[in-house]
Amino acid sequence: MKIAIGSDHAGFKRKKELITALSRMGHRVVDVGCYSEDSCDYPDYAKKVGRAVSLNRAERGILVCGTGIGMAMAANKIKNVRAAVCWNAKTAALASEHNQANVLCLSGRLLSLNEGEKMVQAWLKTEFAGGRHLRRIRKIAQMEQEA
Ligand code: RB5
Repeated sequence: MKIAIGSDHAGFKRKKELITALSRMGHRVVDVGCYSEDSCDYPDYAKKVGRAVSLNRAERGILVCGTGIGMAMAANKIKNVRAAVCWNAKTAALASEHNQANVLCLSGRLLSLNEGEKMVQAWLKTEFAGGRHLRRIRKIAQMEQEA
């Protein structure tokens, strides 16, 4: 799968580790930055990953910042993006199953690499359940039109 990944300075190290893990799993990873631990602004990278997913340049996106929260707030401003901050494998699986989250936002500071890897795996392998959940995400898309 082609996955766009981005971080700010607080997620930089974890992003590098996740890129290695994702490549080992056989995914094609596009790193949109940042490229050092120098302080930078997470919306810049949320925008790059969000746009890559929105424009179908990547099938999924992963964003890492200190908490994952700012990245999700920013990425969700982009059309067609459903970004979810998750804290464990269960919430990551449900983000796919119920919300068809196409961007996963992770904390680089409050989660271990092992937890992060498990979450990414759960999120990628879990299928969207459709049905009533499809109706609900269509309502979210409709809100985008009405805003
Ligand atoms: C940076 O210190 C931090 O605020 C940022 O990485 C993120 O956690 C914001 O949501």
